[in-house]
Amino acid sequence: MSAPHPVAAAAAHGKINLFLGVGPVREDGYHDLATVFQAISARDEVRLVAEDDETAGDQSPVAGLLVRQTVPGEVPADATNLAWRAVENIVRAYRARHGEILLPRVTIEVDKGIPVAGGMAGGSADAAAALVAADHWLSQAYAVPALGPHGLHPLAAALGADVPFVLQGNTAYGTGRGDELVTMLSRGTYHWAVVTSKEGLSTPAVFRRLDEMRERGQNLAGDHGTHRVAEALASGDVDKLAGALHNELQPAALSLRPDLRKVLQVGQAEGALAGIVSGSGPTCVFLCPDAGTAAQVAQAVAADTPGTAGTQVTGPAGGAGLITG
Ligand code: C5P
Repeated sequence: MSAPHPVAAAAAHGKINLFLGVGPVREDGYHDLATVFQAISARDEVRLVAEDDETAGDQSPVAGLLVRQTVPGEVPADATNLAWRAVENIVRAYRARHGEILLPRVTIEVDKGIPVAGGMAGGSADAAAALVAADHWLSQAYAVPALGPHGLHPLAAALGADVPFVLQGNTAYGTGRGDELVTMLSRGTYHWAVVTSKEGLSTPAVFRRLDEMRERGQNLAGDHGTHRVAEALASGDVDKLAGALHNELQPAALSLRPDLRKVLQVGQAEGALAGIVSGSGPTCVFLCPDAGTAAQVAQAVAADTPGTAGTQVTGPAGGAGLITG
């Protein structure tokens, strides 16, 4: 027995979908996607703190979860939090592979830097960081090699569609539920203004609205292919990328949140090259020619549209990684 002490910490970044094509709903309730992800500099940190009681067998290895946030929004602090499930699942995987040992129960501490319920994969980033931290902790406790990014992928995919990408980071083409990934070439650094909304938007509700709009025969195709995004990224041409940004969920998000139209208009009037709803929204992201413009757009949109806040980020950023020291 010992006093509570940290055993591992990791960070993971949020994401932007530079391109999001959505197929019809599948039998499992998910939609096939063709998407291009870019990880961004906004990140969450997850710390595992060992408590002085121990666990074995069916008892949960998680003692509790603490969320510290400077960003507004509701984050569950119980077993419904993806980070909590991530730790339970990886402990189960180690036990299945290496047998039972007594482990201390852990408290999960989450420091939020990624907008909450914003279509930027904040919950998924917490899960990815929790997997990386727990992999380090468990590999030491068991004295075995860590699973590493490759070994963690199936655990990540089981937790949610965006978890594999935030685990891997950088820039990737995603198919299936968005969890079958191929790394893409990307040159340069891109500057984004990010405008978050106080009021969240449910991802399943946005996908459902898109299905309804399609059933009513609204032609929402407009798909101009991921190849234009790929070309723009490979050449590092920000204007080209601005012309290639595309989100098929955007009409559904705007139908549920018409107020976001004004956010998009103001951002473009303030000098952004292009603005789109990020993933299922309600966060809107604006690609800008430089950091100064991104700061100006973030500030001006937040000032002009009530209930929003602006910040600036860069992309691409890396994947989930241990915090050492
Ligand atoms: O996997 P995740 O929990 O992030 O997805 C949340 C919800 O978003 C799913 O339950 C589903 O309704 C919707 N979704 C979808 N198709 C995807 C990803 C998510 O329909 N490819």
